[in-house]
Amino acid sequence: MTTLYESAFAKLNLTLDVVGKREDGYHDLKSVMQTISVRDDIEIDIGTGKPWCLKCDKEDIPTDSKNLAWKAAQIYLDAMGKDADGLEIRITKRIPSGAGMAGGSADAAAVLRALNRHYGEPLSIYALAELGAQVGSDVPFCVVGGTAMCEGRGERLRKLPNMPDCFFVICKPEFSVSTPELYRKLDETAIAKRPDNTGMESAILAGDIEKVAQNLMNVFDPVVTAEHLELNYIKSIFNAYGSIGQQMTGSGSAVFAIVTEFEYAAVICNMLRDNYPQVFIAKPV
Ligand code: C5P
Repeated sequence: MTTLYESAFAKLNLTLDVVGKREDGYHDLKSVMQTISVRDDIEIDIGTGKPWCLKCDKEDIPTDSKNLAWKAAQIYLDAMGKDADGLEIRITKRIPSGAGMAGGSADAAAVLRALNRHYGEPLSIYALAELGAQVGSDVPFCVVGGTAMCEGRGERLRKLPNMPDCFFVICKPEFSVSTPELYRKLDETAIAKRPDNTGMESAILAGDIEKVAQNLMNVFDPVVTAEHLELNYIKSIFNAYGSIGQQMTGSGSAVFAIVTEFEYAAVICNMLRDNYPQVFIAKPV
């Protein structure tokens, strides 16, 4: 039996635009995504000689084939024609669920990377990302990580240079958002403001964190904020204590601030922690 170890990094959407509805019912996106240092830890025992099993230290996470990490292992082994002779996946969860931080997809991507390494890297990172699209829309980006422009459902991605250094403060409120319902609401709404993805890309190329912060934009943010005014409360705390830009990530419900000094991040954290147990300080990775 061999044990593999891999980190599963969460993502934030620096921009998120919904650019069209597809015939398959999904929507096409255009989004600059960034992996961050909030992470789950993945351990995989290969060759246990027993039926597959998945364990997680958080209770609300599925521990069967519905878990994207399990699904990823299945898809990888099937695609490569390998028999793992029994698999145990253990997940130490830190990425909050229902946050828009791709917690499940990050775990799936980590499983793909770990298995691919175990079998001697038969797939390039981009081939692995392509395989990841079969597991879920955010998986290709999570496989590659860093900073990237993602299009389609997320399967078409182009690496960008690493975003300029900064701290993120991320706050996950108690409520979660139903993603399909949010897409339905967006379909019924005229999108008033869209991100300037070219502007964001230029800001990243220039290494200009102020411009990155100014270009943050997520078309889902106003839709969710209109129904959950507490997001405005969290953003007002961000604003009052040194944030240079803030918004919701993905389809929510987590919101994040960009700050340039750790001290600001620490103060924001302290201001929010009493009301919001799920507050994180992170760096881009
Ligand atoms: O990707 P995920 O499983 O979280 O998506 C949940 C639902 O959100 C989908 O079934 C679909 O209704 C909607 N969705 C979409 N377009 C996307 C991603 C999700 O319409 N690109």
